[in-house]
Amino acid sequence: MDVIFDLKSLREKIYFWKKDGLSISFVPTMGNLHAGHLSLISGASEKADKTVVSIFVNPIQFGHGEDYEKYPSTLDHDLSKLSDESVDMVFAPNLNELYPGGIESDTRVTIPALSETLCGEFRPGHFSGVATVVMKLFNNVQPDFAFFGEKDFQQILVIRRMVEDLLLPIEVVSMPIVREIDGLAMSSRNSYLSEFERACSVEIYSVLVQAAEALKEGFKSINEIENQSVSSLVQKGFEVEYCSVRHSTDLAVPAVDNKSLVILIAAWLGDTRLIDNIRVNLA
Ligand code: PAF
Repeated sequence: MDVIFDLKSLREKIYFWKKDGLSISFVPTMGNLHAGHLSLISGASEKADKTVVSIFVNPIQFGHGEDYEKYPSTLDHDLSKLSDESVDMVFAPNLNELYPGGIESDTRVTIPALSETLCGEFRPGHFSGVATVVMKLFNNVQPDFAFFGEKDFQQILVIRRMVEDLLLPIEVVSMPIVREIDGLAMSSRNSYLSEFERACSVEIYSVLVQAAEALKEGFKSINEIENQSVSSLVQKGFEVEYCSVRHSTDLAVPAVDNKSLVILIAAWLGDTRLIDNIRVNLA
């Protein structure tokens, strides 16, 4: 496994792989790797000849006052985990490598509409920050396949839209959420939870499961289901940003005949923001 920190060496390596006709899978990450990332890597390595993982905590996707400063940076630990996986190259650039002109006046990629709803409403500029760094990485890694986890459901739709609109020859592959035994979706941010908060955190998934059941039964309106879910979370001590039933392909508020739905939640437990979702097919 090669560990590369600069664009020049990355480009050289990619050039020779492409010249040899090898296909490339890419897993972009912000490090602090857990089983969710490892499942992306395992999917990625099955799909192409070469697998590249990037590790970069991207400042421009964090808003003012968010957790950029405290986001866990665990490169040595991550590299030792990755050395047991089928990974051919890790790209771990520093800030200057990806933002040579600084981050303030850098060119941004913006995906309208999809970026403005749900998480986008509460984290203005977040998805533009994600799309910009992913585009920079795509331009240099030149993958055939790019892997993302479904916990960040909205992120996947934003990236898919970017790939479609900017005509990138990349297949975006989404992988199912990996959960702890009690149902909590794996996330680097789970490490912020106190023992008490960790115990309460399982409520998000159980609320999602109950809401999905209620949707399938069809006796309650979407509004009722959303309100009931919010009340259950508030009772358990969450501060809820949103709990929303949406159409799964464009996150629009569902029309009566929409069958492919997703229920999405973002909620704070103390100082930790958690997100999760569940797909519901009514067909
Ligand atoms: O999902 C993440 O970890 C990040 O948003 C990503 C895609 C690596 C971009 O920084």
